[in-house]
Amino acid sequence: MQLTTPLITTLLSLISTTTAAALPQTTVTPGATTPWDVSNFVLGCSPGGCTYTFDISGPATADVGPTFSTSCSGSDEQQKMVPCSDTNIESNLVPTQDVGLVLQVSRFGDGANGGDNGYMYGNATAAPEGEGAFASFVVPAEFYGDIVY
Ligand SMILES: *[C@@H]1O[C@H](CO)[C@@H](O)[C@H](O)[C@H]1NC(C)=O
Repeated sequence: MQLTTPLITTLLSLISTTTAAALPQTTVTPGATTPWDVSNFVLGCSPGGCTYTFDISGPATADVGPTFSTSCSGSDEQQKMVPCSDTNIESNLVPTQDVGLVLQVSRFGDGANGGDNGYMYGNATAAPEGEGAFASFVVPAEFYGDIVY
C-alpha cells in the first residue's frame, strides 16, 4: 500500500503522542502504592495516652517479599516504630495537629533481587481528630529502596 502524506503525518503525530504519554510511567510506576489492609484496630485512650492493637496483611511485592499477615500493638507515647509479631513489620501511632492520630507502618524484607533489605512505608489516619478510631482501613505503602548495611 502507498502511504499518503496526510496518513504519514497522522502516524508520526500518533507516535510522538504515544511516546510523550508513555514517558511519565517511568517515574510514576516506582511510586505506585501497595495496599496494606488494617483490621480489628482498637484504640484505648486515657489521660496518659492512647494504646492500640490491630491486625495487618498485605500482598507480595517484588521489592520486599511474600504476602504477610501479623498483629501489632503500641501507644502514641512511644515516639518510635516498634516491631509487630512479625518483626519485619513495625508500627507507630502519631498524634498530629491536622488529621488526628496517624498510624505509620513499615516493612523490611528481601526482594526478588535477594541480598539487600527492601524498605516499604505507609501511613493512614486511624482516628480523625476528636473522633473514634476506624475499625479497618487501608495503609497505602510505597517502596523506598534497599537498606544497605
Ligand atoms: C505520612 O506519609 C506522608 C507521605 O510519605 C508524609 O508526607 C507524612 O509526613 C506522613 N505523616 C505522618 C504523620 O507520618
